[in-house]
Amino acid sequence: MIQRAVLNADIRKGTINRNIYGHFSEHLGRCIYEGIWVGEDSPIPNTNGIRNDVVEALKEIKIPVLRWPGGCFADEYHWKDGIGPREGRKRMINTHWGGTVENNHFGTHEFMELCAMLDCEPYINGNVGSGTVQEMSEWVEYLTFNGVSPMAELRQENGRQEPWAVKYFGVGNENWGCGGNMRPEYYADLYRRYQTYVRNYGDNKIHRIACGPNVDDYHWMEVLMREATRYMDSITLHYYTIPGPAWEQKGAATGFETGEWFSTLEKALRMDELVTRHSVIMDKYDPEKRVGLIVDEWGTWYDVEPGTNPGFLYQQNTIRDALVAGVTLDIFHKHSGRVRMANIAQTINVLQAVILTEGEKMLLTPTYHVFNMYKVHQDAELLDLSLESGTYSFEGREIPEVSASASITAEGVIHVSLCNLNHAAAASLPLELRGLAGKEVGITGTTLAGTAIDAHNTFSQPEAVTPQPFTGFKLEGGKLNVELPPMSVTVLEITPK
Ligand code: AHR
Repeated sequence: MIQRAVLNADIRKGTINRNIYGHFSEHLGRCIYEGIWVGEDSPIPNTNGIRNDVVEALKEIKIPVLRWPGGCFADEYHWKDGIGPREGRKRMINTHWGGTVENNHFGTHEFMELCAMLDCEPYINGNVGSGTVQEMSEWVEYLTFNGVSPMAELRQENGRQEPWAVKYFGVGNENWGCGGNMRPEYYADLYRRYQTYVRNYGDNKIHRIACGPNVDDYHWMEVLMREATRYMDSITLHYYTIPGPAWEQKGAATGFETGEWFSTLEKALRMDELVTRHSVIMDKYDPEKRVGLIVDEWGTWYDVEPGTNPGFLYQQNTIRDALVAGVTLDIFHKHSGRVRMANIAQTINVLQAVILTEGEKMLLTPTYHVFNMYKVHQDAELLDLSLESGTYSFEGREIPEVSASASITAEGVIHVSLCNLNHAAAASLPLELRGLAGKEVGITGTTLAGTAIDAHNTFSQPEAVTPQPFTGFKLEGGKLNVELPPMSVTVLEITPK
C-alpha cells in the first residue's frame, strides 16, 4: 500500500494541553534520591539540595507538571514524616521499592521548591490506602490555607509563610492494587468521602483526581463514572508497555531482537484502543467532556539492568523508547479532547526515564530528545492530518509504519511530527499541504534516528543518539515528499512566509 498524508492546515481540532507532556517522580530507586535530591552538602552542584544539572535539563523540555510522591509509595506515605528539620525526620523502610532506608529528606517543602525551580505545576498524590481522611485533609490545609489554622501555623513554623498554589491532587493511586486491593464499588465510596475534605481554600481551586483503571479494566471505569462523576475533575489510567509475554519475562532494555522491537511498538500502539474504549464509557456519563482522562503512568517497563537492585526499576533507554514516546504522544494529541494530562514514568533513573545519572554525571536519553523535539506541540492547536500509512510487518503481524501528528502555534507556525516505526527501511511519505491559502512556506526539520535497534547513550558516549538537522524532504507544488530514515522520530517546522 502506498502511504500518503494530507495536512489540512485550516482545520483545527482543539488545543493540545501542555500537561500531556507531564512527568512522574516517585520515591523509588534513584529517582528522587540521587536523581533529584543530593542534599545541600553534596559535591554535586545543587541549589538547596536539588541538582542544578537536572533542573536545567528539565526546564529545557518545558516540563509542565510533575506528579509526586508515588505511585505505590503514595499510599504508604505519611506527609508529616517529611516536614520540619531534616535531622529529626523519621527514617523508615521503603517496603515497596528495594527495602532501602527512606530518610524523608525530600518532603513537601523540597517538592514544592523543585516545582518552583522548574516552573511547573505540582500534582500531589494523596494516601487513601493507609492514610486517614484527616491526614489527607490536613495536607491540603498545610499546603494551601492562608489564615489561622493548626496546619497553616505548622507550615509557618517550618519556614513557609505564604501558602502554595496546588491545583492537581490525586485521591489515592492504584487502589485496585498496591493502593489497597479495593473493589471499584468500595473505592468509589471512599473517593467520594475523601475528596469531600480536599478543600478549596481562598483562591486555590483543587482539581480532584480519582484513581482510574489499570489497562483494560473497563468495569472499574464504568463503576467510577457511574458512582462518582460529579465529584471528580479527572480520572486516571495506567498503562505500561512491556515487550514480553508476562511480568516475569518483560525483556531487556538493550541487546534485544527484532521481534521485541516490533512487539514493543505493537503494544505501545495499544494506548489508542485503551483511550478510545475508556473514553466511550466516560462519554456515557459525561457527554460534555467535563472530566479529563489523565494517563498518569505510561512508558516502557523492561527487566532491570543486570546487577542492579530489582526494586529500583533502573533500565537503559534506546531509540526504541524514543519511538514509543513519539507514537504515544501522537495518540494523546489525537485524543486531546479527553486526555488533559499524561505523566511518563518516571523522570530520572526509573523505567522510561528522560535522564539517567551516575554520581555527578548525567545523560539525556533518546526519550528526553523526543520530549524536547515535541515540546512545540504544547498548548498548540491540533490540526487535521489524514494519514494513510503503509504497513510494517513481522512474522505475519502488521502495524502502521508511520505515526504522525500536526499542530499550529498561536504565531501560525505548523509542526508535523513523524515517526517511522520500521527498523529496517526508510519510509517515503508524500505529504500534501492544504489550507495554507497559497502562502509560500519555509521548512526546517530535526530528526532522531538510530544506527541499531538498541542505539542508546552511555556515560562514556552520551551523544550517540541525539537530534540532527533533517533535510530529507522536497517541496514540489503543494506536496512535500518526505523520506524518513528507518527507526526515526522527526519534527518538521513549516512557517508561512
Ligand atoms: O511506576 C512504578 C509503579 O508502577 C508505581 O509505583 C505504581 O503506581 C505502578 O504500578
